[in-house]
Amino acid sequence: MASAAPRGGLFGRVKSLDAILATAEKKSLHRSLGAFQLTMLGIGAVIGTGIFVLTSEAAQKAGPAMLISFVIAGFVCAVAALCYSELASMVPVSGSAYTYTYAVMGEVMAWTVGWALILEYAVGASAVAVGWSGYFVGLLKSWGVIWPSQFAVGPSQGGMINLPAVVISLLVTGLLILGTKESARFTSALVLVKVVALSVFVVLTLPVLNGAHFEPFIPNGWGTYGVVGAAASIFFAYVGFDAVSTAAEETINPQRNVPIGLIGSLMFCTVFYLLVAAGAIGAIGADPVRSAAGAVLAPGSAEMAAQCKAIVAGGLSEPLVCSKEALAHVLRSIGYERLGDLMGVAAFIALPSVVLMMMFGQTRIFFVMARDGLLPEKLATVHPKFKTPHIVTAFTGIVVTLAAAFLPVGKLADYSNSGTLFAFAMVALAVLVLRKKDPSRKRPFRTPAVGIIAPLAIVGCVGLYLNLPFIAQMVLLVWGAIGLLVYFGYSRGRSHVGRGIFDVPELDPNAPPTSVPPMPGAPPPGSPEERS
Ligand code: ALA
Repeated sequence: MASAAPRGGLFGRVKSLDAILATAEKKSLHRSLGAFQLTMLGIGAVIGTGIFVLTSEAAQKAGPAMLISFVIAGFVCAVAALCYSELASMVPVSGSAYTYTYAVMGEVMAWTVGWALILEYAVGASAVAVGWSGYFVGLLKSWGVIWPSQFAVGPSQGGMINLPAVVISLLVTGLLILGTKESARFTSALVLVKVVALSVFVVLTLPVLNGAHFEPFIPNGWGTYGVVGAAASIFFAYVGFDAVSTAAEETINPQRNVPIGLIGSLMFCTVFYLLVAAGAIGAIGADPVRSAAGAVLAPGSAEMAAQCKAIVAGGLSEPLVCSKEALAHVLRSIGYERLGDLMGVAAFIALPSVVLMMMFGQTRIFFVMARDGLLPEKLATVHPKFKTPHIVTAFTGIVVTLAAAFLPVGKLADYSNSGTLFAFAMVALAVLVLRKKDPSRKRPFRTPAVGIIAPLAIVGCVGLYLNLPFIAQMVLLVWGAIGLLVYFGYSRGRSHVGRGIFDVPELDPNAPPTSVPPMPGAPPPGSPEERS
């Protein structure tokens, strides 16, 4: 444990970058990941509920022009990713955007970012769990088992509780407490399942593409309930690429490989998403569902659910925008019943790993914040037998489960996006601030044309945020206000940096894991896999 003089002022409490780097150096993980592994890691973390489920919601807002929405969201992620890489390669320690901000812009800003990341990870995990539930219920139906609808969706969609989402959230929490980590090989297998499933989808749908289904191309205009609004929502489909930047410290030649991994996985996903979206639109159309008066209905609303029910009850086939298992539904609609079921199986197998990844990310953030004294240190207690941070994991699990039980997938994704967009914008700002404050510091990766890329990332994030539904915008503001109350009421007085203590956590690989455990999929420090 090293000490530093306490710093005062609202923005004066900056964690010393040198001390953080000293910690990182002590950790000195073996550099074993190349561009290919990084790209796989990124694809594994990114492909999930976004493309498998939210395609319907994007179509409800943008119609066929959701193709443009995918490009906009992918572009904003790409420029944010380039900024992420610079800080990740300079500050290669746990805590992601929270740690970067602590070092560059001080404790209050770091707190707001850490607080916003709770939305990204915990609420994001709930969204993926609810997405999984849709596929689970659809799969049961294809086997002739009808799951009661009041236990399949929350109250806002006419149900009571989303029981499958509750069960999967609790199961993942249990796995994380027991310390079951996905091995690198298992992660790669799941990536393969997702990529094969999406490839089959593209191969089967593109030949039956009907040009008429792309007309009218932009049925709802460009606004919040049009193309840009859909981009703000479908942004969720790209979230998770930060996994690549957090692996910067384990990467061979990060200057070259981190950007390849980040941009490579984002480009791969963007192209894939475009092909899948084009296949879905071309195969069965993407017309938004409207009220009797002709108004476009909000995805996830009770009115929309009722309208969808009425369409099916009237003998018409279920529109894409109504489906909770969009991709399986498209395949079944064009006559591939069994392959549609297999698509359901692929989602059933692969989506829980995305829930795990996001919940893991959340426990990491809580853990680092508790270690810095900003949250009760009890949260960072490690279970004596399982060697996992069981208290913080159980707490995260309860939050994720409650949100998944009662809220629809699209709303959860939007709330998650509001936190993520804030964190990404702060990271881009931090890159600019640090370039000015400390221009000569070694940067293993430098954001190219930073004067253009970082402002573009900030403007892109703010632009998407402003096109989220009003309630999602308010969630960030209200959540942020609660966060500031907690900070000034509890955390500020207990902060280690504020009290002049700087923790250098124990990083002996053979010691009990008092620091944050490694990413799922990454080999543990000192393991034979890691040393190879
Ligand atoms: N990008 C991830 C998903 O779509 C979070 O599930």
